[in-house]
Amino acid sequence: MNDEKQRLSAEVARRRTFAIISHPDAGKTTLTEKLLLYGGAIHLAGAVRQGHGGRATTSDWMAVERERGISISTSVMQFQYGDRHLNLLDTPGHNDFSEDTYRTLAAADAAVMLIDSVKGVEPQTIKLFEVCRLRGIPIVTFVNKLDRQGRPPLDLLDEIESVLGIPCSPVHWPIGAGSGFLGVYDRWSRQIFRFERAEAGARRAPMTVASLEGDPTLVAALGSHAHAQLVEDLELLEVAGNPFDRERFLAGGVTPVFFGSAMNNFGVEPFLERFVELAPSPRPRAGTAGVVAPDGDGFSAFVFKIQANMDPQHRDRIAFLRICSGRFVRGMEARHARTGKLLTLNKSLQVLAQERTQVEEAFAGDVIGLWDPGILRLGDTLCTGPAFDFEGIPRFSPEHFVRVRLADPLKRKQYRKGMEQLADEGAVQLFYDRKRSEVDPILGVVGVLQLEVFQHRLRAEYGVDVSFDRLPYQHARWVEGEGFSPATFARSASTACIEDIEGRPVVLFETDWVLHRATTENPGLRFLSAVQPGRSPRGR
Ligand code: G4P
Repeated sequence: MNDEKQRLSAEVARRRTFAIISHPDAGKTTLTEKLLLYGGAIHLAGAVRQGHGGRATTSDWMAVERERGISISTSVMQFQYGDRHLNLLDTPGHNDFSEDTYRTLAAADAAVMLIDSVKGVEPQTIKLFEVCRLRGIPIVTFVNKLDRQGRPPLDLLDEIESVLGIPCSPVHWPIGAGSGFLGVYDRWSRQIFRFERAEAGARRAPMTVASLEGDPTLVAALGSHAHAQLVEDLELLEVAGNPFDRERFLAGGVTPVFFGSAMNNFGVEPFLERFVELAPSPRPRAGTAGVVAPDGDGFSAFVFKIQANMDPQHRDRIAFLRICSGRFVRGMEARHARTGKLLTLNKSLQVLAQERTQVEEAFAGDVIGLWDPGILRLGDTLCTGPAFDFEGIPRFSPEHFVRVRLADPLKRKQYRKGMEQLADEGAVQLFYDRKRSEVDPILGVVGVLQLEVFQHRLRAEYGVDVSFDRLPYQHARWVEGEGFSPATFARSASTACIEDIEGRPVVLFETDWVLHRATTENPGLRFLSAVQPGRSPRGR
């Protein structure tokens, strides 16, 4: 192996690219912050939040996000832990932006599933878990908020197993709970980690390491009842617990479980220590020309996010690429598979909050931002060598629909530009009447907050005011199959037939019942709730 190849393999091997999935409020922001703290990327947790009660992490940038206290955008945080290079993909916390989360998970090699020890498995946990399962992403579970009097750990594991259907294999086990939460027992090394509180969790928590038997103060600190319970639980796990199997874990068939309190930094460091070993380095990915190895010869990457106007000072559009193979060097040329054009990748950025730094070099597993004059779309592949595509990122059927109304007809040009730009980002989906006359388009969104953000951004970034007329539909389905007659659906009062941006027919349904009836009455048609964006759009 030559030096360059050897270096590439080593760089790929030390990369870990992952996302945290959780229901809002489980502590994702807090855990993210603590991982950055232990990774040395920040020195004082809380530094990245905007004041008390702010949900703003380093990744929050938009006015709407600040006003609403939610995190919408997705960015990537890079930090080192030991010799590992971690890329933490930040996902929006709010349910209404789940499409963005789906796209981000396409760029991740592993996920941390964060569970609130008081609330257990919650609806958003289930949804996101399903996406990980579909993509075969290995999942590591972190049960948070052990400093609260939560549910017994065995109950929580039972719930994860029964609701999500994934066997749990605890690596750590909590010692005490609530105000008596003292630390965790590492079942693999048979060590205990006891923690001390440090400045409300702002700095790294001091930790002492001992064996279960070798810590004479433990029984007194825990109380004899809790101590006996701990010993009993551990014995039970030895006999009846699920064994950990690495191959099964990598295939998403078992989840290793950790416990802690992100707020107090309890358990975060020993978790991270294990996580960097457990999480896989970038894995081979399927492309249309075969499987692409991360340390293969050529460079390849796909666009999983597009964001315009991130910084009002810059007013530009950035495409985020996940590198799947090879090495990126600023100034290199790569082929844009969809158009066949050669692009020079010159303006490469790393974006964290408002800060942008130029990226000179990056490797498979990394995420880079590329300044994009409007060529790149979600799901596009860039590669050196013969062109191919990675599996696209699906588009999901919206659940809320509005007709957009432009307040000032003189602003039609900016209005068009803004809408198309925001649709390219995947912020909303645009639909048109089949005649494609000059009528205003229909917007479809998965969550209503997307509409609010859309309206706000059109005003702030394009100077255009719009209002919405709500449409009575709840479901949209792309329809495929012989004998589909749009007119049938167009005539009914409770359905409508429109087209997506690529000219594919979409039927809107007012209720579950109407959708159900349509599917049973038309067995020859397929009603799809997700599609791959087309490779050759028929124009707008
Ligand atoms: P999210 O990003 O998943 O939505 O959750 P976030 O980290 O913002 O945490 C949600 C709430 O849970 C916050 O409280 C946070 O302080 C709290 N929290 C996070 N980790 C722990 C933990 O280990 N133990 C306990 N007891 N609480 C935890 P908040 O009151 O909503 O906000 P704040 O005033 O603390 O900022």
